[in-house]
Amino acid sequence: MHPDQLVMPYFVQAGRKVKTEINSMPGQFRYSPDTLLKEVEALQKSGVNSILLFGIPAHKDSTASEAWSSKGIVQQAVREIKKRFKDLLVMTDVCLCAYMDHGHCGVLNRAGEIENDLSLELLSRTALSHAEAGADLVAPSDMMDGRVKNIRGVLDQNGFQDISIMSYAAKYASAFYGPFRDAAHSAPASKGKIRVPKDRKTYQMDFANLREAMKEIAIDIKEGADIMMVKPALAYLDVIREARNRFDVPLAAYLVSGEYSMIKAAAAKGWVDEKAVVTEIMMGVVRAGANILITYHARDLAKWLQ
Ligand code: PBG
Repeated sequence: MHPDQLVMPYFVQAGRKVKTEINSMPGQFRYSPDTLLKEVEALQKSGVNSILLFGIPAHKDSTASEAWSSKGIVQQAVREIKKRFKDLLVMTDVCLCAYMDHGHCGVLNRAGEIENDLSLELLSRTALSHAEAGADLVAPSDMMDGRVKNIRGVLDQNGFQDISIMSYAAKYASAFYGPFRDAAHSAPASKGKIRVPKDRKTYQMDFANLREAMKEIAIDIKEGADIMMVKPALAYLDVIREARNRFDVPLAAYLVSGEYSMIKAAAAKGWVDEKAVVTEIMMGVVRAGANILITYHARDLAKWLQ
């Protein structure tokens, strides 16, 4: 395990001098671009050279307009970060849930159902706007079918052949995303007359199913994904191992918000030794076959590894 493998996720929002701790994720913050720059500087000193950005928009609407606007918060943050840190690998999460007034990852019709194919256009527009801002890699996390192909096509047509795609290929409908949805204000919620599904089970995967994950990964690689991802990590080590055995592209594992918060809560009570359990867990994820580790522990872990 080496700091080069680590990716640190960050939440960015509009404003100046904002650094607000996320209640359900002790030690993690919502940053405005200026405070994020300082944090990134410290991160690089710890030895981590990759970040994954999530935006918290000022306004949500039914077309997720801040997701794909060139003036969106992620686009702004990427531009500022890239100006200062030329060699930092900047990844962006591509999704609509935090930007939609209903909190789902795709476009909804009047019946409150996800319109898969209509969602692709907005997702590709979002990915393109991130690339235009200077992102090195886009990471679609929406789980719509066909998004990798669509995004790859749009990036290529616009001269961004060199921008990589890390696909959240095997993303399970997991209760471990709870704290993230609190952090990003992205939990699905009904609006007005439209009744909205309370969960993401129609597009994220059933956690009883291993073979579906292999099918999803195979499709995404065929569509042009450069890196495959399994998410969450801890309860899915078998999925990581199976993906590693079957496919020859780099494999990322995402230790998600709920996994982070469980450890922080137990450590705060003095029930476990944080450094020891984080090191042991992440080594388990590497042993299972992951090459890239996306974790809110990244900055601490890098320091411990040094
Ligand atoms: C957006 C997205 C989510 C996460 C990453 N991208 C939330 C979700 O699907 O509800 C979860 C990350 C975490 O829990 O740390 N779709």
